[in-house]
Amino acid sequence: MQQLDYNRIPAHVAMIMDGNGRWAKAKGLPRTAGHVEGIARVKQITEESARLGIKYLTVYAFSTENWNRPMQEVETLMNLILTNLEEEIFIKNNVRFRVIGDMSRLSETIRKRLQDCIDHTAANTGMTMVVALSYSSRWEITNAARQIADEVKAGKLKAEDIDDECISRHLTTGLIPDPDLLIRTGGELRISNFLLWQCAYTEFYFTDEFWPDFNVESLHRAIIDYQQRQRRFGKTGEQVTNEE
Ligand code: FPP
Repeated sequence: MQQLDYNRIPAHVAMIMDGNGRWAKAKGLPRTAGHVEGIARVKQITEESARLGIKYLTVYAFSTENWNRPMQEVETLMNLILTNLEEEIFIKNNVRFRVIGDMSRLSETIRKRLQDCIDHTAANTGMTMVVALSYSSRWEITNAARQIADEVKAGKLKAEDIDDECISRHLTTGLIPDPDLLIRTGGELRISNFLLWQCAYTEFYFTDEFWPDFNVESLHRAIIDYQQRQRRFGKTGEQVTNEE
């Protein structure tokens, strides 16, 4: 088996953590049990990502579409997120915490807790963990388009100056570099409204493992797979080899 190359760790890894419900069902447990186990994996993967030297870890914790789940499941998920935001893990691992998404739909209690976590970890200099909460790419791109239109209307920006960089800057990910690797667990082969703009040249890795089964070895396997690929960004293989 190939070994992990510590000199070529992806700078930004994004994760779609799917399969909590099916993991629980397969074991005859309530869906909540899957989410509880899923949170344990988030903590483990966060610590390992920081240890590996990943600079940004973005996790899809709750999508805009997840608001349509039964109210009880939404409440359970929100409570689990609220009670499991442990600053000690971030502090111990020098992790800076950030959130992207539509905060206006979250309860005051969650917003306050998230803000505390952001403030208390702002000076950390290691990995940045970005939690996508009440997030969807189409929501984000629509918002960016509105902001840009307002700036043009107000005379702060010229329409001809709108370019890739300008659009990226107006997204909630702001100055965060685009993901190098996107991992989706749970067997589905889609990206479900997650970081659509940002994933233009991201390498995708899909695994059938349910999120609660995704452990440190699974993360290593995904990174080793990523390290076998040649990223060409639209160029030819020869051009890329000559640049290396
Ligand atoms: C998908 O499984 C998973 C979710 C909708 C929630 C993921 C959230 C967490 C693991 C918690 C994140 C917490 C923090 C603190 C960042 P599913 O329920 O859609 O599974 P299924 O497809 O098998 O039904």
